[in-house]
Amino acid sequence: MTLNFSCKIIALGNLPTSVEDKFKSNFTHFKSYDLEHCTNNLDDVLQKHSDSEVVISFLCHKLDCQRLSFMPKLKVIANYAVGFDNIDIEAATKKNILVLNTPDVLSEATADLAFALTLAISRKINEGHKFICQNKWQSLTMNMFLGQAISRKTIGIIGLGRIGKIYAKRFLGFDVEILYTKKNKNVDLVFDEKHNARQVELDELLRQSDIVSIHCPLNNDTYHLIDANNLKKLKPNCILINTARGSVIEEPALIKVLQENRIFGAGLDVFENEPAVPTALKNLDNVVMSPHIGSADANTREAMGNLLYNGLLVIIEGKIPQNVVNKSDDHWSKCI
Ligand code: GLV
Ligand code: GLV
Repeated sequence: MTLNFSCKIIALGNLPTSVEDKFKSNFTHFKSYDLEHCTNNLDDVLQKHSDSEVVISFLCHKLDCQRLSFMPKLKVIANYAVGFDNIDIEAATKKNILVLNTPDVLSEATADLAFALTLAISRKINEGHKFICQNKWQSLTMNMFLGQAISRKTIGIIGLGRIGKIYAKRFLGFDVEILYTKKNKNVDLVFDEKHNARQVELDELLRQSDIVSIHCPLNNDTYHLIDANNLKKLKPNCILINTARGSVIEEPALIKVLQENRIFGAGLDVFENEPAVPTALKNLDNVVMSPHIGSADANTREAMGNLLYNGLLVIIEGKIPQNVVNKSDDHWSKCI
C-alpha cells in the first residue's frame, strides 16, 4: 500500500483540536465533519467522499460490507475507540483495508469510570443526590440510603484484558478477593498474587462475586453473554457494572432483575441501542448511568487521536503500527 501526506482523509467527527491541527498542517487533504451529521447521514457522507483513502470513524458508525464498498480507494479505517464491533473486520480484511483502534491509552480512564460507578451504586450516591435536589431532605436519620461496603468483598471481572487489569488494580487497598475470566487462559501468577486474584469459569464468577464488572469486547461469543439465565446466578447483594458494550447484557432481562430488586444495583455506561435508553431504566433508583463516557477525559481523548495520527505516520513509512486490528503478515503483504 502506498499512503502519503497527500492522501484523502475524512474524519466522520471532530477530533480534539490539537490533533486536528496536526492533521491539517501535515496532510494536504484532511477534512473533518460534524459527528452527529455523519452519524445521521452516513451513507450520503461516505458516497460523497467515495475517493477517501483513510476514514476516521467513531463507534456510532456502523461500517459494514456495503458501506465499505462505497469507498473503493479506502486503505485505512482509523477507529477512534478501542472497541471495533462497529466495523465488519472480515470484510475490511478481504478488501485489504487496515483497521486501527486506540488500545491502552484509554484503559485507565475506562477503569476509573467503572470504579466510580461501583462506588456510586454501592453507597447510593445517585439516590442521595436526587433526594437533595428534590428538596426531600428534612431531617437527619440513621437509616436512609444504607449502602454496602466494598472492603473485603469478592470482585468478579469478566474479561481480564488491559482495562480489566487496571480495574482490579483500583481495588488494591480494599482487601478484596478477585475472580476473573479471560479469553486466553494463560496463567499470570504475578498478577494473581499481587491482586489476590484467580481465574475461574464464568458460572463460578457470577455465583460468588459481590461486584461483577464487564470488560470484554463485544463479538459473537459475548453477545448477550449476561442473559436472563446468567443474571439468575447473581447474588442478591450483587452490583453489576458495564462499561464495555451494552449488548454484552440482555438489557430487557436486566431491567426485569432490577425492577424486582433481585440484585443490589447496576452501574451502566453502555446500552443496547445508544443513545436510546429505555424509560424503564430511567425510572429505577437502583441504577447509576452515564452516557458512554468511559474514555472521556481530555488527555485520554487527545492521546486516542494521537495514537491514530501516529499509526498513519507509521503506515506511511511502510511499517505496521502496533494498533492494527487485522494484522496478519499475509494480509499486510497484500496491503503494502
Ligand atoms: C469506547 O467505548 C471504546 O471502545 O473506545
Ligand atoms: C481493552 O482494551 C482491553 O483489553 O481491556
